[in-house]
Amino acid sequence: TVALIVAVDGPAAAGKGTLARRLAAELGLPYLDTGLLYRATGRRVLDAGADPFDPAAAEAAARALDPADMQRDDLRGAEADRAASGVAAVPGVRAALLDFQRDFGRRRGAVLDGRDIGTVVFPDAGVKLFVTASPEARAHRRWLELRAKGMARAEADVAAEMAERDERDAIRAAAPLRPAADAHVLDTTALDADAVFALALELVRSAR
Ligand code: C5P
Repeated sequence: TVALIVAVDGPAAAGKGTLARRLAAELGLPYLDTGLLYRATGRRVLDAGADPFDPAAAEAAARALDPADMQRDDLRGAEADRAASGVAAVPGVRAALLDFQRDFGRRRGAVLDGRDIGTVVFPDAGVKLFVTASPEARAHRRWLELRAKGMARAEADVAAEMAERDERDAIRAAAPLRPAADAHVLDTTALDADAVFALALELVRSAR
């Protein structure tokens, strides 16, 4: 049997990470949070004193990326969010990060979460989930998450920054955020994490 790839895509704070991590544990598969690659790339650009929206600086940072960069503790928060989605629009950045993602899943299979796993990274994934929720629900979840981490913000600011980032991720020409034609769309607006997990597990089991 071929290694199972589960693609989990969707906009910010829809519950992709929580779901993907649980699916990976349940299925005994490695898990990759692909957003960390873009976040770490954005951080490198900021460290260099450059602009994450400058394509040459962004591509150079992606090519120099080191696995240790993904362990940094400054990859969350408004500045990191914005830098990540800035570098993510650069085709050269996406090309530089593609082989790492494919190699990660190729041998043993994997659960990967991101924006383009089902459309670009693994277009032949065994299961594709597109996890979404209303903008209000997602902004509220992110606001709660930040508050729990001691990064209290005004909820309206969190909502506005998230809307801007999702828009940028959706309208870019390179691997825009959108569900693959054969993705199962899971709207988590009215569902808790356990319910989402149960639904997703059912989809994975029926796909095998
Ligand atoms: O998933 P996360 O919010 O950590 O991703 C941060 C940013 O990285 C996203 O807003 C998006 O611009 C970019 N990203 C991407 N493709 C992926 C994962 C993340 O473009 N597969």
